[in-house]
Formats: sequence, structure tokens, C-alpha cells
Amino acid sequence: MAILVLGGAGYIGAHTVYELIDAGRDVVVVDNLMTGFRAAVHPKARFYEVDIRDKKGMDALFEKERIEGVIHFAASSQVGESMKEPLKYYDNNLWGTISLLESMTEHGVDKIVFSSTAATYGEPERIPILESDRTEPTNTYGETKLAMEKLMGWVSQAKGLHYVALRYFNACGAHPSGAIGEAHDPETHLIPLILQVPNGQREKISIFGEDYPTKDGTCVRDYIHVCDLAQAHILALDYLMAGGENNVFNLGNGVGFTVKEVIDVTRAVTGHPIPAQTSPRRAGDPAQLVASSEKAKTVLGWEPKYDSLETIISTAWNWHRAHPHGFEG
Ligand code: UFG
Repeated sequence: MAILVLGGAGYIGAHTVYELIDAGRDVVVVDNLMTGFRAAVHPKARFYEVDIRDKKGMDALFEKERIEGVIHFAASSQVGESMKEPLKYYDNNLWGTISLLESMTEHGVDKIVFSSTAATYGEPERIPILESDRTEPTNTYGETKLAMEKLMGWVSQAKGLHYVALRYFNACGAHPSGAIGEAHDPETHLIPLILQVPNGQREKISIFGEDYPTKDGTCVRDYIHVCDLAQAHILALDYLMAGGENNVFNLGNGVGFTVKEVIDVTRAVTGHPIPAQTSPRRAGDPAQLVASSEKAKTVLGWEPKYDSLETIISTAWNWHRAHPHGFEG
């Protein structure tokens, strides 16, 4: 029996496929290659270029492959874009998941682990954030992810679906082998943008706001290595296979770093001075997002391995230095 990874050519999906194959699992990947890259798919995975909204295509796949569980990353994930193109987010994220669940329930596949986000919380009521805290998204992206979580709950009641939602904080870093890493077009994430400076692709990094109520005035985030996220998906699927109940888990390191601290650590890792300039705040950025991941540790036995920001940024630098144009050269 195989594990089906939807969005397995994207950043977190591709790393999860590598970890699954390393663990000896049989893996089928589906991706529409809208933002993912064929070259990111592990050579030992069976790849299908299908859009999850293509019900006939997904039905054909479920008829051909024997699937024991689904890990679902196939979604649009840019906060800024979601505010300009909300319908795209409802279509791809929510409608895509509805169509997928129809196909899964019709084919008797009843276990799914899927990407949710810290953006489901909106402005946090306290730090660190617990899974039981208020969820009030401040952007369309977070709203569609919360809607996906709720959808799973109702389908579970009606059809016996079993699910785990994983709310990621700031995914970063690259596979330690250097084979795959982060590649977005356009890139909006802090660490890859900083690394464009020592890579000679950008003169300086902009700091979006220095007047937040934090220790140095810049935003605080919880940076978690992509391979640690990948491991959590495997543990969550195994938990469902062992009869675990529907659940929601935060995934972060539980430690917050300011934007300035991230730039400083990147300077130390790369040995480059990395000039920085203050820019206006970016709309919709909460001052602080730090997870409590105690629940994932206790219930799933999850233990992040990459708990130092130096190591995380070193793996990212290793990838970006060797692949300045991502998977395209
Ligand atoms: N930042 C800068 N300069 C830049 C880019 C980012 O100062 O050039 C700052 C941002 O303002 C933010 C921090 O760096 O304070 C991190 O920004 P990212 O864009 O890397 O990540 P976000 O925290 O905005 O977003 C992440 C995920 C989203 C998820 C969100 C949850 O990428 O998918 O966390 O709020 F929705």
C-alpha cells in the first residue's frame, strides 16, 4: 500500500516525500506543477501530474494505486496574494479539498494529514500559542485553511474520515543532502530573501517595520526546519493508522527570533555583511507568532532535530548557494 502525497513537488511536500522514502515507504506524488517543480520529486516516487480539482483524474488515480493514507499539501500559500486573489484561494484550497474528499470517500480512503497554518490564529491572544486558542484569521489564506479544518470535521462525522491538521509556523531550511530546498517564484519569505544578498542577487534586505512592541522593534517568528515538519507528517499518519482520533497540532520550535536576529545569524553563517534597510510595515503581519508544540511532542512523540537557527540557516545556505535559481538552473 502506498502513501499519496498531494503537492509533493512543492517545498514542504517534496521534503516529506524524501523523508518517507528514506523511511522505506511506497510513495505516490500528485502535483499540478503550478508552483511545484518536477525536479523536486524524489526519483523513487511515482509521479502524476494531476490537479486535485480534477475529480476524474483523481478517481483514476485512486482506482490504479492502492492508497492507505493521504498527506495533503496541494494549496496556494501566499498571504499577500490571498488578499488580492481571494477567489483563487477558495477555489484551490477549499474547492480542491472538497473534490479530493469526494474522491477519497468514494474510494474508501479514510485517513488524511494536511497542511494548516499559524495564520489560522490571526492576531494571537497569547504567546506561546496553544491549539485551543482563538482562531480568527486576518487574511484569506488563513481563512481557507481554517475552513479546510472545519470541513474535515463535518466530513469525519458524516463519513468516518480520520484527519490531522498540522499548523505550521515559519517553515525554513533545506534537505541536509543539498538535493532539494526552498524555491518560490516570486520569493516572499525572509530567509531565502536574505540569502539572495550573499548570493549576489540582491543588494540589501528590507526590514518590514522596526516599531513593533518586541525586544528590538522587529517581528518575532518561530522558525522550524522543513525536515522536522516532514517528520511530523509521517508521525501524524502513523498515529491515524494506529487508531488516533482527529486532531490539530502546532508545529514550531517554541522559540521566537526577531527579523534582526535572523539577519545577524545569516551574517554569521555566510560571512557576508548583508546590508539591511528599514522599510514600512507589511500589511497583516502580527508582531509575534511563537508556537507551543507540546501537544505534538506529547501525543505524536515529535522531537524537532534542527533546534538551532544557525543549523537551519546553514542548510538553507547550502541549497541556495548551489542552486541560485532554484530548480531552474
Ligand atoms: N520580512 C522582512 N523583510 C522581507 C521579508 C519578510 O522584514 O523582505 C519579515 C516579515 O515582515 C515577517 C518575517 O520577516 O515579520 C517573516 O516573514 P515571512 O514572509 O518569511 O513569513 P510570515 O511570517 O509572513 O509567513 C509565514 C508563512 C505563511 C503563514 C504565516 C503565518 O510563510 O505561509 O507564516 O502567519 F501563513
